[in-house]
Amino acid sequence: FTVDWDASATEKGGWDSFMNKEIHEDPAAVGNTLLGRFNTSGDIVLDEVRIDEDVFRSIDKIIVVACGTASYAGLVAKYAIEHWVRIPVEVELAHEFRYRDPILTPRTLVVAISQSGETMDTLMALRHAREQGSRVLAICNTQGASIPRESDAVLYTHAGPEIAVASTKAFVAQITAAYLLGLYLAQVKGTMYRDEIHQILDQLKAMPEKIEWVLQTQSDSVHEAAKRMIDAHSFLFLGRHVGYPVALEGALKLKEIAYTFTEGFAAGELKHGPIALVDEGEPVVVIVPSARGRDSLHNKVISGIEEVKARGAFTIVVAEEGDPDAERYADVVLWRPVCPTLLSPLVDVVPLQLFAMDMAMLKGYDVDKPRNLAKSVTVE
Ligand code: G6P
Repeated sequence: FTVDWDASATEKGGWDSFMNKEIHEDPAAVGNTLLGRFNTSGDIVLDEVRIDEDVFRSIDKIIVVACGTASYAGLVAKYAIEHWVRIPVEVELAHEFRYRDPILTPRTLVVAISQSGETMDTLMALRHAREQGSRVLAICNTQGASIPRESDAVLYTHAGPEIAVASTKAFVAQITAAYLLGLYLAQVKGTMYRDEIHQILDQLKAMPEKIEWVLQTQSDSVHEAAKRMIDAHSFLFLGRHVGYPVALEGALKLKEIAYTFTEGFAAGELKHGPIALVDEGEPVVVIVPSARGRDSLHNKVISGIEEVKARGAFTIVVAEEGDPDAERYADVVLWRPVCPTLLSPLVDVVPLQLFAMDMAMLKGYDVDKPRNLAKSVTVE
């Protein structure tokens, strides 16, 4: 009597791919990154951060340096931190940063975001920042890697090891860590009331459940969209405000593993160029902001969908549960549960991760090891 034993299947815990397993670990990645970060009064404590509170108080600018998916987490951080902390946040691709003579002072906090902690471009950027006298805080998923080792402070994401080359659960964990950093800065700088910070933290703690809901309820629609678009040669992704980095990430995922030409852009740019690409049957993926509160943005994105629809586009729309406008213009709607706008990237990216995976699988590609790509790029 023999039992066939496949070590790699065991590591995948019954999932058909690491990517599928890791997408389903998105809720835990967010939840675990929040664990142990609060004192008994509910205030944020960043105990791995060895920068004095006074230094944090004096920070007047943040520059995020990162590559690939991590840079899009940085872009989400920009929207949240500027709103909460009222200091400018720049987001720079690490490989561009160093070569343009950036303005760095001791009051600049450079935030290096990296899943692996070994990306050479990001490492070189942080060395440059430290040479110029700025403090560097790393947001990293790998204990003891080069980037956290060389930083003044580290905020670890607790997504667990990420094996699939295309980053998924690390991305939501990076965004979560960036929110924590922003709320911590708001706390020490006093830019928000304590109650307000606690309220956002409560909403943040509820996000894993909302991500789980997306995974449980939206996979069939995602699969339907993938099946209908399997022959498409190119995709456009558009989003506005925090939906913009989500659009960029959705476009990157599909490019990376389904080898499809994609472009992600800010929805407001549609009329300044990309609409020229829209033709009969062109798939356009749109992240629609909630209609609550930010009415004008919602309506503007919806009118963008009308524009592409009028030119024959096939529209895949991520929208808040029950949004009648989204339903009216979408060929496929992927619903997001109600959540605060600034936190919505945590849920909105999930169907796009699933979509890229479904497309790659339908095409018969290896979703865990896409061609030409490395999990961690340790050369410049
Ligand atoms: C590589 C990977 C990407 C990743 C990027 C940054 O290009 O293929 O998935 O986003 O590096 O990696 P890091 O480990 O620094 O987050």
